[in-house]
Amino acid sequence: MVGALGRHLVLTGFMGAGKTTLGCEVARRLRRQFVDLDREIEQREGATIEELFARDGEASFRAMEEDAAAAVLEGVKPAVIALGGGAVLSAGTREHLRRQAFTVLLDIDPAVAWQRARESKRPLAVDGEAFHALYRERLPLYEEAADAHAHDADGVVLAAAGIDVRIGAVDLLGELVPGSGPVEIVADANVAGIHGVVAQLALGDRVIASHDVPPGEPAKAVAVLERLWRAFRVGRDGTIVGLGGGCTTDLAGFAAATYMRGVPWVAAPTSLVGQVDAAVGGKTAIDLPAGKNLVGAFHWPTRVVIDPGTLETLPEAEMKNGMAEVVKTGLLMGSPVWEQPLAELVRRCASYKAAVCLADPHDLGPRNQLNLGHTFGHALEAAAGYDLPHGQAVALGMVAALSLSGNDAALANVRHELNPQPVHVDRDAAWAALARDKKTVDGTPRLVLLERTGDPTWGNEVPAADVRAALDSLISD
Ligand SMILES: NC(=O)c1ccc[n+]([C@@H]2O[C@H](COP(=O)([O-])OP(=O)(O)OC[C@H]3O[C@@H](n4cnc5c(N)ncnc54)[C@H](O)[C@@H]3O)[C@@H](O)[C@H]2O)c1
Ligand SMILES: [Zn+2]
Repeated sequence: MVGALGRHLVLTGFMGAGKTTLGCEVARRLRRQFVDLDREIEQREGATIEELFARDGEASFRAMEEDAAAAVLEGVKPAVIALGGGAVLSAGTREHLRRQAFTVLLDIDPAVAWQRARESKRPLAVDGEAFHALYRERLPLYEEAADAHAHDADGVVLAAAGIDVRIGAVDLLGELVPGSGPVEIVADANVAGIHGVVAQLALGDRVIASHDVPPGEPAKAVAVLERLWRAFRVGRDGTIVGLGGGCTTDLAGFAAATYMRGVPWVAAPTSLVGQVDAAVGGKTAIDLPAGKNLVGAFHWPTRVVIDPGTLETLPEAEMKNGMAEVVKTGLLMGSPVWEQPLAELVRRCASYKAAVCLADPHDLGPRNQLNLGHTFGHALEAAAGYDLPHGQAVALGMVAALSLSGNDAALANVRHELNPQPVHVDRDAAWAALARDKKTVDGTPRLVLLERTGDPTWGNEVPAADVRAALDSLISD
């Protein structure tokens, strides 16, 4: 089981840690029901928590809380649940958490927690001394129940998706690759020469083999995959680690998905595209001569280790490819993330995609939004015989999609950040490719539109003539 994929996401922490506020926000992002356990108890009992404490005493309240927690955690539909600050005192509740939830502890400085709690009417926040003593007493229980720690909504989502974003993460691969079993590394040959030694050292003698694969798209080929299948020696207790750009992680993930009917894998993306897009969300694939990503599987990595420090060695042209996805993500989320420092921008974009994918792991709805600009972009790439960088194609594609959306502000952002220039390709070939798009139904393309920044819609039927005109405007003579 990976993170909160398909199971409850529980937030715990001391009073004042922000469980309700962050829980609400994370539930919105994951499109899940939000359950605040304290509110649930108040509704059941028809009295406020303070009244229940005053009326029945703490012991009786804890019994009610344990019952309520069990009832909520036994619910089958994965929810986001905020537990009351004292709920983890119950051994029964901690056992339920272990079996039925992924539990994130919200870290809070006790002094800040006290400031917040004393302003509210919390029954256990009347005396500062007692409050701090309670914090020290409960901390070990919080730690025992926690699968991960976080301090903000992005952190909760990343933890829930099994993603670690930090500069220097590659040096920590030894700790970050779950378990203690053997590891085989699948590395892009370029990246192996730059970051491979650090990864090997970090994993130490867990590494039983390391396989270099061709840089870039040629890695995603049946022949390369077959070579890996034949070379692998790990069993189901082992882990495949994919180190490189999106091509390497797509290949390593698919190799892991298929070898021995599936072995665990860890993605360590080293390109901007890999860190904000390809390695997030559990899709893996290889290419066929007939097209890209035609054979693949959903196989969520047990951990995604994102080290923005590795981007220092990424060639400029590859940074540009990644920035197109960053601008796309910023427009989808409604925040100019592209203005953030690199490490922060990576963290926010990875978190955005992770939330969308946790909400829609099998690509049946919300995940469609990630294709903003891509229907046009793919058509241009195909017409160019794939001799057009993906980032450039997507930047142009966004120009078309945002024009059709009538969103001038977003259009200005794309032009300012990415400066896309029309490409010289065959107009009919581009149109033919667009008409072949999976999402075209009866000759009417279905597009992701963004009429309001931060509020994408998908499956929009747009008249073919308008789509063709928008596509033509991306092409130079
Ligand atoms: N699975 C998904 O959901 C998903 C999503 C988006 C894209 N993708 C796939 O991702 C692939 C594109 O990924 P990409 O853009 O990362 O391409 P890539 O893997 O080819 O990497 C780009 C280039 O950068 C080099 N490189 C990578 N990291 C480096 C580093 N730190 N220092 C120096 N050089 C480095 C690589 O050797 C390569 O030459 C495509 O095949 C695409 O289909 C998959
Ligand atoms: Zn893309």
